[in-house]
Amino acid sequence: MPHVDLQITPATNIKDLVAALPIAADVLTQFGLGCSGCGVSKYETIEQGAAAHGLRAEPIVAALGQARLSGFVPLIANEDRTPARKTPSAPGAFSGRAKIKHVVPVMSGKGGVGKSLVTALLALGLRRKHLRVGILDADITGPSIPKLFGLHTPLEISADPNAPKTAQGNPQPLMVPAISRSAIEIVSSNLLTDKEDTAMIWRGPILSGVIRQFFEQVQWSDLDVLLIDLPPGTSDAPLTVLQSLKVDGVVLVTMPQALATMIVRKAANLIHQLKKPILGVVENMSYFVAPDTGTKYEIFGPSYADKVAELAGAPVLARIPIDPEKARLADAGEVEAIDDPICDQLATALLAALERTPKEKETISLL
Ligand SMILES: Nc1ncnc2c1ncn2[C@@H]1O[C@H](COP(=O)(O)OP(=O)(O)OP(=O)(O)O)[C@@H](O)[C@H]1O
Ligand SMILES: [Mg+2]
Repeated sequence: MPHVDLQITPATNIKDLVAALPIAADVLTQFGLGCSGCGVSKYETIEQGAAAHGLRAEPIVAALGQARLSGFVPLIANEDRTPARKTPSAPGAFSGRAKIKHVVPVMSGKGGVGKSLVTALLALGLRRKHLRVGILDADITGPSIPKLFGLHTPLEISADPNAPKTAQGNPQPLMVPAISRSAIEIVSSNLLTDKEDTAMIWRGPILSGVIRQFFEQVQWSDLDVLLIDLPPGTSDAPLTVLQSLKVDGVVLVTMPQALATMIVRKAANLIHQLKKPILGVVENMSYFVAPDTGTKYEIFGPSYADKVAELAGAPVLARIPIDPEKARLADAGEVEAIDDPICDQLATALLAALERTPKEKETISLL
C-alpha cells in the first residue's frame, strides 16, 4: 500500500502532501485551494492554508484521508468549501465590518516600471508569512492585477442591504472580492461585468468614487495588509486615491534611470504635501545576472536606489533584478508560481517599515 506512512493532519505541509499523494491536489482544488500551482503552499500547513481561505481544516483533512483510501476525490459539502464571509446583513450588522490593519498604496513616478508586478511580489511575500492580504487594483485605466493572477470570473455583486439607497433610489453594490490561488483577495475594475444590472451601478463614475466603492463596498475579510496598485504617475488619478483613503504609507517603485531621481523627487513632494509617509523605495529592473556566468550587468545604468531613497527620505526596501522567468509567469497569469526569496525580502522590509512608521492607533473599519 503506497503512502501508508503518510500522516494527514492539520499540521501537514501542503507541498509535501501533494508530492507524496498527488490526488491531494485534486481534493484541495475541490475546496478552492489551488495549491499545486502556487508557490505559497510550500510554506503552509493544511491548517494555515484553510485559514487563509476562510475554511475549516477538519473537513479538508477528512476528505484527504478518504481520497487516500479510495483513490477518488470524495463529494464535498458546499458549506465546507464556502469561505466564511462576514455578511453585513447578519444580525448585529456592524460586527460584520472588516478590519484592515495596514493600507499600503504602491506608486510609481511613471508607467511601466513594474509597479503591478512589485505589488504582486509583495503580496506573495506577505502570504508566505501567513498574513492575510488583499490587493485593490486602483489602476482603472490599465488594470493588470487580475491578469497577473489569472483571474477572469467577474466579481459577485449584490445589493448592499445596509447602505442607504442612491439619490435615484437604487441600491448600492456590495462586492465579494476574487480570491486568488494563494488566498489573496483581489478587487479590480477588470473583474466587473458589463451586464445591465451592474452597469447601472457604475454609470458615470468618477475615479475617487469608484475607488471608495472598491474600498468600502467590498466584503473584504479581516486583512493584515491591503495593497493598492495606484494608477501610474503623479497626475490627479493617483493623488485622488491617496487623498481619499486613510493609508499607512506609500511604497515608491522606480527604475535605475537618471530621470528617476527627478520623477521621484516630484512624487515624494506630492506625497509629503498630502501628509502621507513614504515607507520605502523599490528599485525594479535594477540589474541582470547572467544565468550562465553569474556576471551582474546594470542594463539600465547604475543604481539610483540610494539617491532616490535619500530624496524620498525613506529606505530602499529592495532592488529587484530583471528576471525573464518572472515576466513569463506574470504574463501567463501565474505570478503565484514565482518562488523567489525577493518576495520574503520585500515583505520583511515592508513590515519593518510599517513597524517604524507612526500611525493612528485604531484600525480602519469598513462597510
Ligand atoms: N523585474 C522584472 N524582470 C522582468 N520583467 C519585469 C520585471 N518587472 C516588471 N517586468 C515586466 O515589465 C512589464 C511591466 O510591468 P508592470 O505591468 O508590473 O508595470 P507597471 O508599472 O504596473 O505598468 P503600468 O504603468 O502600465 O501599470 C510586464 O510585462 C512585467 O512582467
Ligand atoms: Mg500596472
